[in-house]
Amino acid sequence: MDASKGPPLKETTSPIPFQELSGPEQYYSLVAQRYANHPNSWSTPVELFQPWYGYAIARCIQHIVEQSFDRQQLVKEWHIIEVGGGNGTLAHCILQYAKQYYGAPLCNALKYHIVEVSPLFVERQRKRLLSHPSVSFHSMSILDWSETISSPCIVIFCEVLDNLPHDRVEWDDETKTWYECRIRETPEKNTSTDNNNNAIVHFPLQDKWIISTMQDWNILSENGQIAAPLHIFSTPYWLYYLQNMVDRLLSSNPCTVLYVPTVAHQVLTTIRRYFPQSHLLVADFDFLPQATRGFFAPVVQNGTKAFSSIEEAPKTTCDILFPVYFPGLSRAIQRLWNPNYIQIWKQSKFLKTYADSKHTRTKSGFNPMLSDFTNTRILFTRNYTNHNK
Ligand SMILES: C[S@@+](CC[C@H](N)C(=O)[O-])C[C@H]1O[C@@H](n2cnc3c(N)ncnc32)[C@H](O)[C@@H]1O
Repeated sequence: MDASKGPPLKETTSPIPFQELSGPEQYYSLVAQRYANHPNSWSTPVELFQPWYGYAIARCIQHIVEQSFDRQQLVKEWHIIEVGGGNGTLAHCILQYAKQYYGAPLCNALKYHIVEVSPLFVERQRKRLLSHPSVSFHSMSILDWSETISSPCIVIFCEVLDNLPHDRVEWDDETKTWYECRIRETPEKNTSTDNNNNAIVHFPLQDKWIISTMQDWNILSENGQIAAPLHIFSTPYWLYYLQNMVDRLLSSNPCTVLYVPTVAHQVLTTIRRYFPQSHLLVADFDFLPQATRGFFAPVVQNGTKAFSSIEEAPKTTCDILFPVYFPGLSRAIQRLWNPNYIQIWKQSKFLKTYADSKHTRTKSGFNPMLSDFTNTRILFTRNYTNHNK
Protein backbone atom coordinates (compact mmCIF):
# COMPACT_ATOMS: atom_id res chain seq x y z
CA MET A 1 0.00 0.00 0.00
CA ASP A 2 1.21 3.54 -0.67
CA ALA A 3 1.02 4.98 2.85
CA SER A 4 0.60 8.54 1.60
CA LYS A 5 -2.69 7.72 -0.18
CA GLY A 6 -4.99 6.74 2.60
CA PRO A 7 -5.38 5.35 6.06
CA PRO A 8 -6.75 1.84 6.43
CA LEU A 9 -5.89 1.96 10.15
CA LYS A 10 -9.14 1.67 12.00
CA GLU A 11 -10.30 4.54 14.16
CA THR A 12 -10.72 2.85 17.50
CA THR A 13 -10.92 5.34 20.28
CA SER A 14 -12.71 3.22 22.87
CA PRO A 15 -10.63 0.73 24.86
CA ILE A 16 -11.78 -2.91 24.89
CA PRO A 17 -13.28 -3.84 28.30
CA PHE A 18 -10.94 -6.83 28.74
CA GLN A 19 -11.95 -7.55 32.32
CA GLU A 20 -15.57 -8.07 31.20
CA LEU A 21 -14.67 -10.63 28.50
CA SER A 22 -15.06 -14.31 29.36
CA GLY A 23 -11.80 -15.51 27.72
CA PRO A 24 -9.99 -16.20 24.43
CA GLU A 25 -13.11 -17.11 22.42
CA GLN A 26 -14.81 -13.82 23.16
CA TYR A 27 -11.61 -11.81 22.60
CA TYR A 28 -10.87 -13.39 19.19
CA SER A 29 -14.48 -13.12 18.04
CA LEU A 30 -14.52 -9.45 19.03
CA VAL A 31 -11.34 -8.83 17.01
CA ALA A 32 -12.79 -10.73 14.03
CA GLN A 33 -15.96 -8.67 14.29
CA ARG A 34 -13.94 -5.43 14.24
CA TYR A 35 -12.12 -6.60 11.10
CA ALA A 36 -15.42 -7.59 9.46
CA ASN A 37 -16.96 -4.20 10.18
CA HIS A 38 -13.94 -2.39 8.73
CA PRO A 39 -12.68 -4.61 5.87
CA ASN A 40 -9.89 -2.25 4.77
CA SER A 41 -8.44 -1.71 8.19
CA TRP A 42 -6.13 -3.39 10.63
CA SER A 43 -5.62 -3.20 14.34
CA THR A 44 -2.19 -2.78 15.86
CA PRO A 45 -1.28 -3.60 19.49
CA VAL A 46 -1.27 0.17 20.11
CA GLU A 47 -4.94 0.31 19.07
CA LEU A 48 -6.20 -2.99 20.51
CA PHE A 49 -4.57 -2.68 23.90
CA GLN A 50 -4.96 1.04 24.44
CA PRO A 51 -4.15 2.68 26.76
CA TRP A 52 -2.12 -0.06 28.51
CA TYR A 53 0.29 -0.82 25.66
CA GLY A 54 1.07 2.88 25.19
CA TYR A 55 1.56 3.33 28.94
CA ALA A 56 4.11 0.45 28.90
CA ILE A 57 6.06 2.23 26.14
CA ALA A 58 5.87 5.50 28.09
CA ARG A 59 7.26 3.77 31.18
CA CYS A 60 10.12 2.22 29.20
CA ILE A 61 10.93 5.64 27.69
CA GLN A 62 11.09 7.11 31.19
CA HIS A 63 13.65 4.45 32.17
CA ILE A 64 15.69 4.95 29.00
CA VAL A 65 15.97 8.72 29.37
CA GLU A 66 16.67 8.63 33.10
CA GLN A 67 19.42 6.05 32.61
CA SER A 68 20.93 7.43 29.44
CA PHE A 69 20.91 11.23 29.66
CA ASP A 70 22.11 13.93 32.01
CA ARG A 71 19.17 15.15 34.12
CA GLN A 72 20.29 18.78 33.79
CA GLN A 73 20.02 18.41 30.03
CA LEU A 74 16.67 16.62 30.25
CA VAL A 75 14.95 19.25 32.37
CA LYS A 76 16.00 21.92 29.85
CA GLU A 77 14.64 20.15 26.76
CA TRP A 78 14.18 16.65 25.40
CA HIS A 79 12.14 15.19 22.53
CA ILE A 80 10.07 12.19 21.58
CA ILE A 81 9.93 11.70 17.80
CA GLU A 82 7.22 9.24 16.81
CA VAL A 83 7.58 8.10 13.21
CA GLY A 84 4.30 6.93 11.61
CA GLY A 85 1.83 7.99 14.29
CA GLY A 86 -1.25 6.30 12.73
CA ASN A 87 -4.38 7.46 14.53
CA GLY A 88 -2.42 9.36 17.20
CA THR A 89 -3.36 6.79 19.84
CA LEU A 90 0.19 6.05 21.00
CA ALA A 91 1.01 9.76 21.33
CA HIS A 92 -2.18 10.26 23.34
CA CYS A 93 -1.32 7.41 25.74
CA ILE A 94 2.34 8.44 26.16
CA LEU A 95 1.42 12.06 26.86
CA GLN A 96 -1.31 11.04 29.34
CA TYR A 97 1.17 8.83 31.17
CA ALA A 98 3.86 11.53 31.11
CA LYS A 99 1.51 14.07 32.71
CA GLN A 100 0.71 11.67 35.50
CA TYR A 101 4.05 9.96 36.19
CA TYR A 102 7.05 11.77 34.68
CA GLY A 103 7.05 14.60 37.23
CA ALA A 104 6.67 18.26 36.28
CA PRO A 105 10.30 19.09 35.35
CA LEU A 106 10.63 16.16 32.93
CA CYS A 107 7.09 16.53 31.57
CA ASN A 108 7.37 20.29 30.98
CA ALA A 109 10.66 19.90 29.11
CA LEU A 110 9.24 17.24 26.75
CA LYS A 111 8.54 18.18 23.14
CA TYR A 112 6.53 15.56 21.23
CA HIS A 113 6.76 15.31 17.43
CA ILE A 114 4.88 13.06 15.04
CA VAL A 115 6.41 12.56 11.59
CA GLU A 116 3.72 11.15 9.33
CA VAL A 117 3.78 10.53 5.58
CA SER A 118 0.00 10.30 5.10
CA PRO A 119 -1.81 13.68 5.22
CA LEU A 120 -5.04 11.84 6.10
CA PHE A 121 -3.45 10.31 9.16
CA VAL A 122 -2.07 13.74 10.12
CA GLU A 123 -5.66 15.05 10.11
CA ARG A 124 -6.77 12.22 12.37
CA GLN A 125 -3.84 12.81 14.71
CA ARG A 126 -4.65 16.51 15.01
CA LYS A 127 -8.24 15.65 16.02
CA ARG A 128 -7.19 12.88 18.40
CA LEU A 129 -4.60 15.08 20.12
CA LEU A 130 -6.64 18.26 20.62
CA SER A 131 -6.09 17.92 24.37
CA HIS A 132 -2.28 18.00 23.87
CA PRO A 133 -1.74 21.36 22.13
CA SER A 134 2.05 21.21 22.32
CA VAL A 135 2.44 18.27 19.89
CA SER A 136 4.19 19.18 16.61
CA PHE A 137 2.88 17.49 13.48
CA HIS A 138 5.29 17.02 10.56
CA SER A 139 3.39 16.01 7.45
CA MET A 140 6.26 14.37 5.56
CA SER A 141 8.22 11.19 5.12
CA ILE A 142 10.90 10.74 7.77
CA LEU A 143 13.31 10.42 4.83
CA ASP A 144 12.75 14.13 4.09
CA TRP A 145 13.56 15.31 7.63
CA SER A 146 16.25 18.03 7.53
CA GLU A 147 16.37 19.77 10.94
CA THR A 148 19.05 18.84 13.46
CA ILE A 149 17.83 18.37 17.04
CA SER A 150 20.83 18.28 19.35
CA SER A 151 18.99 17.74 22.67
CA PRO A 152 18.25 14.21 23.95
CA CYS A 153 15.72 12.34 21.80
CA ILE A 154 13.82 9.08 21.80
CA VAL A 155 12.74 7.97 18.35
CA ILE A 156 9.82 5.50 18.19
CA PHE A 157 8.71 3.23 15.35
CA CYS A 158 5.65 1.09 16.09
CA GLU A 159 4.81 -1.14 13.15
CA VAL A 160 6.46 1.19 10.65
CA LEU A 161 9.61 -0.62 9.46
CA ASP A 162 7.50 -3.57 8.22
CA ASN A 163 5.58 -1.21 5.93
CA LEU A 164 8.63 0.33 4.24
CA PRO A 165 9.59 -0.72 0.70
CA HIS A 166 12.23 -3.45 0.34
CA ASP A 167 14.47 -4.45 -2.58
CA ARG A 168 14.39 -7.95 -3.97
CA VAL A 169 17.77 -9.49 -4.78
CA GLU A 170 18.64 -12.99 -6.00
CA TRP A 171 21.76 -15.09 -5.54
CA ASP A 172 22.60 -17.37 -8.44
CA ASP A 173 24.72 -20.26 -7.24
CA GLU A 174 25.82 -21.19 -10.75
CA THR A 175 27.23 -17.78 -11.72
CA LYS A 176 28.05 -16.91 -8.05
CA THR A 177 26.44 -13.52 -8.62
CA TRP A 178 23.91 -11.35 -6.80
CA TYR A 179 21.25 -9.78 -8.99
CA GLU A 180 19.01 -6.83 -8.15
CA CYS A 181 15.45 -7.18 -9.40
CA ARG A 182 13.44 -4.48 -11.08
CA ILE A 183 9.88 -4.49 -12.32
CA ARG A 184 9.23 -3.81 -15.98
CA GLU A 185 5.69 -3.31 -17.20
CA THR A 186 4.96 -5.53 -20.17
CA PRO A 187 2.46 -4.47 -22.82
CA GLU A 188 0.70 -7.83 -22.94
CA LYS A 189 -0.13 -10.56 -20.50
CA ASN A 190 2.60 -13.13 -20.60
CA THR A 191 2.76 -16.46 -18.81
CA SER A 192 6.28 -15.83 -17.53
CA THR A 193 5.22 -12.61 -15.85
CA ASP A 194 3.08 -11.94 -12.83
CA ASN A 195 -0.66 -11.26 -12.96
CA ASN A 196 -0.25 -7.49 -13.29
CA ASN A 197 1.62 -7.77 -16.61
CA ASN A 198 4.82 -6.91 -14.84
CA ALA A 199 8.01 -8.79 -15.50
CA ILE A 200 10.91 -9.13 -13.08
CA VAL A 201 14.17 -8.26 -14.79
CA HIS A 202 17.60 -8.99 -13.30
CA PHE A 203 20.73 -6.82 -13.27
CA PRO A 204 24.04 -7.61 -11.54
CA LEU A 205 23.86 -6.02 -8.09
CA GLN A 206 25.31 -2.50 -8.15
CA ASP A 207 22.94 -0.33 -6.13
CA LYS A 208 25.00 1.24 -3.33
CA TRP A 209 22.12 1.40 -0.84
CA ILE A 210 21.23 -2.25 -1.29
CA ILE A 211 24.86 -3.28 -0.88
CA SER A 212 25.45 -1.13 2.21
CA THR A 213 22.22 -2.38 3.79
CA MET A 214 23.22 -6.00 3.21
CA GLN A 215 26.63 -5.32 4.73
CA ASP A 216 25.50 -3.20 7.69
CA TRP A 217 22.64 -5.58 8.59
CA ASN A 218 25.05 -8.54 8.40
CA ILE A 219 23.05 -10.18 5.66
CA LEU A 220 26.14 -10.68 3.46
CA SER A 221 28.99 -12.88 4.60
CA GLU A 222 32.59 -12.00 3.81
CA ASN A 223 32.59 -14.32 0.81
CA GLY A 224 29.56 -12.49 -0.59
CA GLN A 225 26.93 -15.13 0.23
CA ILE A 226 24.11 -15.07 2.77
CA ALA A 227 25.62 -14.69 6.24
CA ALA A 228 25.54 -17.83 8.39
CA PRO A 229 23.96 -16.24 11.52
CA LEU A 230 20.94 -15.52 9.40
CA HIS A 231 19.86 -19.12 9.37
CA ILE A 232 21.80 -21.02 11.97
CA PHE A 233 21.67 -19.18 15.25
CA SER A 234 18.68 -16.97 15.38
CA THR A 235 15.14 -18.24 15.64
CA PRO A 236 12.78 -17.87 13.91
CA TYR A 237 15.00 -16.96 10.94
CA TRP A 238 16.35 -20.47 10.34
CA LEU A 239 12.85 -21.28 9.10
CA TYR A 240 13.65 -19.12 6.06
CA TYR A 241 16.74 -21.21 5.48
CA LEU A 242 14.76 -24.44 5.55
CA GLN A 243 12.12 -22.97 3.26
CA ASN A 244 14.83 -21.76 0.89
CA MET A 245 16.38 -25.25 0.72
CA VAL A 246 13.01 -26.82 -0.06
CA ASP A 247 12.22 -24.14 -2.65
CA ARG A 248 15.56 -24.63 -4.36
CA LEU A 249 15.03 -28.38 -4.55
CA LEU A 250 11.51 -28.08 -5.92
CA SER A 251 11.89 -25.05 -8.14
CA SER A 252 13.12 -24.93 -11.71
CA ASN A 253 14.96 -21.75 -10.76
CA PRO A 254 17.40 -22.70 -7.97
CA CYS A 255 18.38 -19.17 -6.93
CA THR A 256 18.08 -17.74 -3.42
CA VAL A 257 15.63 -14.86 -3.11
CA LEU A 258 16.05 -12.18 -0.45
CA TYR A 259 14.16 -8.98 0.39
CA VAL A 260 16.51 -6.25 1.63
CA PRO A 261 15.26 -3.52 4.05
CA THR A 262 16.95 -0.73 2.07
CA VAL A 263 14.49 2.01 3.04
CA ALA A 264 14.62 1.07 6.73
CA HIS A 265 18.39 1.47 6.47
CA GLN A 266 18.00 4.90 4.84
CA VAL A 267 15.63 5.86 7.66
CA LEU A 268 18.17 4.80 10.32
CA THR A 269 20.88 6.80 8.55
CA THR A 270 18.62 9.88 8.48
CA ILE A 271 17.80 9.54 12.19
CA ARG A 272 21.45 9.14 13.12
CA ARG A 273 22.33 12.23 11.11
CA TYR A 274 19.66 14.62 12.42
CA PHE A 275 19.22 13.36 16.00
CA PRO A 276 22.78 12.97 17.22
CA GLN A 277 21.75 12.30 20.85
CA SER A 278 19.07 9.70 20.17
CA HIS A 279 17.92 6.36 21.50
CA LEU A 280 15.52 4.13 19.59
CA LEU A 281 12.45 2.06 20.37
CA VAL A 282 11.19 -0.24 17.59
CA ALA A 283 8.16 -2.55 17.87
CA ASP A 284 7.46 -4.84 14.92
CA PHE A 285 6.83 -8.30 13.47
CA ASP A 286 9.80 -10.67 13.58
CA PHE A 287 8.07 -13.34 11.50
CA LEU A 288 5.13 -13.57 9.11
CA PRO A 289 3.47 -16.53 7.41
CA GLN A 290 5.42 -17.29 4.24
CA ALA A 291 3.20 -16.64 1.29
CA THR A 292 6.00 -15.68 -1.11
CA ARG A 293 9.31 -17.41 -1.67
CA GLY A 294 12.41 -15.82 -0.16
CA PHE A 295 14.16 -14.60 2.99
CA PHE A 296 12.06 -11.86 4.66
CA ALA A 297 9.45 -12.16 1.93
CA PRO A 298 6.39 -9.97 2.31
CA VAL A 299 2.79 -10.93 2.81
CA VAL A 300 -0.12 -9.05 1.36
CA GLN A 301 -3.19 -8.51 3.48
CA ASN A 302 -6.43 -7.40 1.95
CA GLY A 303 -9.83 -6.71 3.43
CA THR A 304 -10.51 -10.36 4.22
CA LYS A 305 -7.39 -10.47 6.40
CA ALA A 306 -6.16 -13.45 4.35
CA PHE A 307 -2.44 -13.47 3.68
CA SER A 308 -1.47 -13.78 0.05
CA SER A 309 1.71 -13.71 -1.97
CA ILE A 310 3.15 -10.55 -3.50
CA GLU A 311 2.86 -12.17 -6.95
CA GLU A 312 -0.91 -12.42 -6.47
CA ALA A 313 -1.35 -8.99 -4.90
CA PRO A 314 -4.85 -7.61 -5.48
CA LYS A 315 -5.18 -4.41 -7.46
CA THR A 316 -7.36 -2.88 -4.75
CA THR A 317 -6.04 -1.28 -1.57
CA CYS A 318 -3.96 -3.71 0.43
CA ASP A 319 -1.34 -3.75 3.12
CA ILE A 320 2.13 -5.15 2.35
CA LEU A 321 4.12 -6.28 5.37
CA PHE A 322 7.71 -7.52 5.65
CA PRO A 323 9.07 -9.26 8.74
CA VAL A 324 11.86 -7.30 10.44
CA TYR A 325 15.22 -9.08 10.78
CA PHE A 326 15.95 -7.93 14.35
CA PRO A 327 19.52 -9.31 14.70
CA GLY A 328 20.43 -7.40 11.52
CA LEU A 329 18.66 -4.26 12.72
CA SER A 330 20.63 -4.51 15.95
CA ARG A 331 23.94 -4.81 14.04
CA ALA A 332 23.09 -1.76 11.93
CA ILE A 333 22.22 0.26 15.07
CA GLN A 334 25.45 -0.92 16.70
CA ARG A 335 27.41 0.32 13.71
CA LEU A 336 25.63 3.67 13.48
CA TRP A 337 25.12 4.56 17.20
CA ASN A 338 27.27 2.20 19.23
CA PRO A 339 25.01 2.41 22.32
CA ASN A 340 25.94 0.59 25.57
CA TYR A 341 22.93 -1.70 25.33
CA ILE A 342 20.55 -2.90 22.66
CA GLN A 343 17.72 -4.91 24.16
CA ILE A 344 15.60 -7.13 21.91
CA TRP A 345 12.71 -8.75 23.71
CA LYS A 346 9.67 -10.68 22.62
CA GLN A 347 6.73 -8.33 23.06
CA SER A 348 5.31 -10.46 25.91
CA LYS A 349 8.52 -10.08 27.93
CA PHE A 350 8.52 -6.33 27.32
CA LEU A 351 4.91 -6.07 28.48
CA LYS A 352 5.48 -8.28 31.53
CA THR A 353 8.28 -5.87 32.49
CA TYR A 354 6.69 -2.51 31.72
CA ALA A 355 2.87 -2.90 31.52
CA ASP A 356 0.24 -2.99 34.21
CA SER A 357 -1.19 -6.12 32.65
CA LYS A 358 -3.97 -6.82 35.16
CA HIS A 359 -6.14 -4.39 33.17
CA THR A 360 -6.07 -6.62 30.07
CA ARG A 361 -6.77 -9.93 31.87
CA THR A 362 -10.07 -11.58 30.93
CA LYS A 363 -12.27 -13.50 33.42
CA SER A 364 -10.70 -16.86 32.50
CA GLY A 365 -7.21 -15.53 33.28
CA PHE A 366 -6.31 -15.36 29.56
CA ASN A 367 -4.47 -12.11 28.88
CA PRO A 368 -4.63 -11.09 25.19
CA MET A 369 -2.02 -8.36 25.56
CA LEU A 370 0.52 -10.98 26.70
CA SER A 371 -0.66 -13.86 24.48
CA ASP A 372 -1.66 -12.32 21.14
CA PHE A 373 0.93 -10.99 18.63
CA THR A 374 3.48 -13.69 19.52
CA ASN A 375 5.37 -12.86 16.31
CA THR A 376 6.40 -9.39 17.49
CA ARG A 377 9.52 -8.04 19.21
CA ILE A 378 10.55 -4.77 20.76
CA LEU A 379 14.04 -3.35 20.43
CA PHE A 380 15.26 -0.44 22.53
CA THR A 381 18.66 1.11 23.09
CA ARG A 382 20.05 2.79 26.20
CA ASN A 383 23.24 3.85 27.87
CA TYR A 384 24.09 3.54 31.52
CA THR A 385 25.61 6.74 32.78
CA ASN A 386 26.47 7.88 36.27
CA HIS A 387 24.92 11.32 35.72
CA ASN A 388 21.83 10.81 37.79
CA LYS A 389 23.10 8.74 40.70
C1 LIG B 1 0.92 0.24 10.42
S1 LIG B 1 0.77 1.95 10.68
C2 LIG B 1 1.20 2.01 12.42
C3 LIG B 1 0.58 3.18 13.12
C4 LIG B 1 0.89 3.30 14.62
N1 LIG B 1 2.31 3.46 14.84
C5 LIG B 1 0.36 2.09 15.36
O1 LIG B 1 1.19 1.26 15.80
O2 LIG B 1 -0.86 1.97 15.49
C6 LIG B 1 2.23 2.63 9.88
C7 LIG B 1 2.31 4.15 9.95
O3 LIG B 1 3.57 4.58 9.41
C8 LIG B 1 3.32 5.66 8.50
N2 LIG B 1 4.47 5.73 7.58
C9 LIG B 1 4.82 4.83 6.61
N3 LIG B 1 5.94 5.23 5.98
C10 LIG B 1 6.33 6.39 6.56
C11 LIG B 1 7.42 7.29 6.33
N4 LIG B 1 8.32 7.07 5.38
N5 LIG B 1 7.51 8.41 7.13
C12 LIG B 1 6.59 8.66 8.08
N6 LIG B 1 5.52 7.84 8.32
C13 LIG B 1 5.39 6.73 7.58
C14 LIG B 1 1.97 5.28 7.91
O4 LIG B 1 1.34 6.34 7.24
C15 LIG B 1 1.23 4.86 9.18
O5 LIG B 1 0.80 5.96 9.94
